[in-house]
Amino acid sequence: MRLSAMNTAELQKMQAELTKEYEDYKKLGLSLNMSRGKPSKAQLDLSLPMLDIKQTTAADGTDARNYGVLDGLPEAKRFMAEFMSVPEDSVIVFGNSSLNIMYDTVMRAYVFGVLPGEKPWKDQGKIKFLCPVPGYDRHFGVTEAFGFELINVPMTPQGPDMDAVEKLVKDDPQVKGIWCVPKYSNPEGCVYSAATVRRMAAMPTAAADFRVFWDNAYCVHHLDMDDQAEIPDFLAECAAAGHPERPYIFGSTSKITFPGAGLAAFAAGPETIKYVKKLMSVQTIGHDKLNQLRHVAFFGDRAGLLRHMAKHADILRPKFQMVAETLQRELGDLGCADWTTPKGGYFMSFNTMPGLAKRVVAMCKEAGVELTGAGATYPYGKDPEDKNIRLAPSMPPVEDLKVAAELFCLCVKLASVEKLLAEKQA
Ligand SMILES: Cc1ncc(COP(=O)(O)O)c(C=O)c1O
Repeated sequence: MRLSAMNTAELQKMQAELTKEYEDYKKLGLSLNMSRGKPSKAQLDLSLPMLDIKQTTAADGTDARNYGVLDGLPEAKRFMAEFMSVPEDSVIVFGNSSLNIMYDTVMRAYVFGVLPGEKPWKDQGKIKFLCPVPGYDRHFGVTEAFGFELINVPMTPQGPDMDAVEKLVKDDPQVKGIWCVPKYSNPEGCVYSAATVRRMAAMPTAAADFRVFWDNAYCVHHLDMDDQAEIPDFLAECAAAGHPERPYIFGSTSKITFPGAGLAAFAAGPETIKYVKKLMSVQTIGHDKLNQLRHVAFFGDRAGLLRHMAKHADILRPKFQMVAETLQRELGDLGCADWTTPKGGYFMSFNTMPGLAKRVVAMCKEAGVELTGAGATYPYGKDPEDKNIRLAPSMPPVEDLKVAAELFCLCVKLASVEKLLAEKQA
């Protein structure tokens, strides 16, 4: 029965029952965590044999122990290009993580401009940046750190609301960029539709130096290898639409091998790649080539990578299923929440009734279950409706997840009943 159809007496009865259940949970002294989008130990163990690889010489004879090779060993470029589904000559292999490439990319545009001869963003007054919401807090944090004005754009099941995006970029030259996670987005697990990808590539922008920050962090992170989402090739779409330098594409093996010790890469149009290499040449002599060789030797090629991802999927799928089944069983008929059931990535996105996300997160915490802070999925940590909560099922063992998800549902129910009662009494 939908909570909104219940009368006061029914709601009060439910409140009493739920409160007792909640107090019983508190006595258990739980300490569970559903906040961290990290691989579990079992997933990390999958890549452990990689550390036994002692290869030091690249296919072309380069001694990987020594200085040099600014943009990555040829085999590492080939591997990362296959992984990110882009041509080899559009790729620069970087270091251990993609977030710092994103930061450097913003910094480069800010200090030097996006291409030779383009005015640096720092000299163009106020800079505005589009943030599809809910989204990834660290993306928003990067552009917030530069003092940009962050503009919320609602997500739809097909990706960012493209009518809103097109309108915002069309006449305002201060809008310089947008954050995108095109496949299995953080936190909704949304896969951009082909139409969204094409509109993003083709839309006219008032700023000639507008860039799309295309963070394809979860491009091979399927939960079921027989049901893999695909999206159009953004680099090719941008080139075909006459905007070859629009995309900044990022990827990493953080959640494939080891977070913080993976391999990250950047892909972009031909002028951008030339320009970035030139600027990089004063920043580094080259990244960790031994790690590049380890990754290439461990996976071989894209097929090897996908075989490895199938093992990740086997570990992650039961966890996502557990959470999805619990939410459906406990909340499915009540009409007090909605949530996503992604086919890949690391997160699920959950919406309470407006005004309850902070309360639910606090109630869970009090009973021993840590969730991502409410508001974290919005720029400046401010969810205007206080309703979105990011669920991260990857880390805890499935039996802990069961308890955490049940307690979470209990808190959602109790907070919703309290709200409806307060509204009836107002
Ligand atoms: C969308 C997205 N991009 C990037 C990252 C971090 O990537 P890296 O470890 O390569 O810096 C994360 C981590 O959660 C993420 O969710």
